[in-house]
Amino acid sequence: MSELRAKFETAGQGHVFAWWDELGERARRRLTRQLEAVDLSRLPEMLAAVEALKSPRARNLSPAPTYALGDETFPYALDDAARALAPQGEKELRDGRVGVLLVAGGQGTRLGFDGPKGCYPILPLTGMTLFEVFARKLLRVGREYGRTPPLYVMVGRHNEAATRNFWEDHDWFGLCPEDVQFFAQGEMPALDDDGKLVMSGKDALFSGPDGHGGVVQALHRQGLTADMRRRGIRTISYLQVDNLQTPVADPAFIGLHLGEGAEVSLKVVRKQDPNERVGVFCHDDGVPCIVEYSEFSEQQAREQSEDGRLRYWQGSIAVHLFSTDFLARLGDRNIDLPLHAARKKVPSVTDPDPAAPNAWKFERFVFDVIPLANHVVCLEVPREEQFLPVKDADGPFGPDGVRQSYQDYFGRGVERVLGKKPPGLEVDPGVSENARELIDWLKDNRNAKHWDLEAPLHITDASTDKA
Ligand code: UTP
Repeated sequence: MSELRAKFETAGQGHVFAWWDELGERARRRLTRQLEAVDLSRLPEMLAAVEALKSPRARNLSPAPTYALGDETFPYALDDAARALAPQGEKELRDGRVGVLLVAGGQGTRLGFDGPKGCYPILPLTGMTLFEVFARKLLRVGREYGRTPPLYVMVGRHNEAATRNFWEDHDWFGLCPEDVQFFAQGEMPALDDDGKLVMSGKDALFSGPDGHGGVVQALHRQGLTADMRRRGIRTISYLQVDNLQTPVADPAFIGLHLGEGAEVSLKVVRKQDPNERVGVFCHDDGVPCIVEYSEFSEQQAREQSEDGRLRYWQGSIAVHLFSTDFLARLGDRNIDLPLHAARKKVPSVTDPDPAAPNAWKFERFVFDVIPLANHVVCLEVPREEQFLPVKDADGPFGPDGVRQSYQDYFGRGVERVLGKKPPGLEVDPGVSENARELIDWLKDNRNAKHWDLEAPLHITDASTDKA
């Protein structure tokens, strides 16, 4: 005990024991356990992250090569070269060499839902949850290619039990339980303006999830990169739980990644306007990376190419492919991604409900693996087809806004084949992931022309009567 106290005092953090004499035996044990887990050697890095935020380093930016869309009009088409490589991706899926990694360890503060974000009922007619949407997409891949990719779900300590129970209560949505693995990401403490660790109670240090970038070390520490290797998985499809529209295992994207011999690949959408708050894929001193919108000057963000379009147009949608060897290499070398600081409201023992941001929180970002990869490939995808995140309580990225965009998008597919948009629409993710596939499916379906398009329409496999 005295050793632990001395360690914290030497690091200038002795205040964590300020209430020690008031604590009972159990509270003391709890606090001791928590403090033992704190890596004080990280303090200088945390302080440096705060400084970096206050005065970002100079960048030497240039645009990065990207496979742009082949057709920008609805229902869209990917780049021709990527489409030509789809058979290679399909073979990888048939050979069972692809795994899916879903990160679901965030706190979902903006959405304000009481439970893991993945348990949010999002689809407009049935209220299907985000987790079930992903599970049904995976089952469909399994039906199509004969092998269902294993699923790795990253959770945080705050939502681990609720997430596991939810999947168990729903019989893993029909997936094989051995092929669904949950693993918890790490935690980071917060600092106040004097560089002191924030205490959330007299017997508790504040800590929060260490960001989606925590996935690299969490996979390694919990033996999951080894599990991937054991299963013969070569490519990991990385997804975030809140993006309703992302495909789980896109054959063209996988084919391009393999064909190019990339270690990391990413999907981007074309920025809608120069000020859109999205990270941009570009080069910094010739090295591929994602640069936060806040690091672009107004003038740089507005720069145009010869075609009159934005020079820095590649907005990242946080969809990646990683080669398993690359993930294993980062893990084996104990490579930690850099910490980023953010000013946030942090409940503390002296101010349990702060009215304004009062402290620094620290997170790692998954896109910081990009500069570490030997080869990176970037593919543009249609925004409305593949990017529809549930972020906020309201507005375009709140549940109602997302449901509206979802129905508008698929409604255009129905209208293309049947001549009319129904007043409400849901497409089972097991039937099709996007309007392109839906259009083909509808053309093949003899029943479709008899559907009542005056009433809300729920398209499922049961509505099929294939020609
Ligand atoms: P966001 O950064 O949008 O955070 O996460 P969030 O937790 O969903 O919502 P806010 O910011 O608190 O409102 C994008 C994705 O990354 C995951 C989230 O679960 C989401 O899928 N994530 C984020 C993690 O897995 N761990 C983290 O520490 C942070």
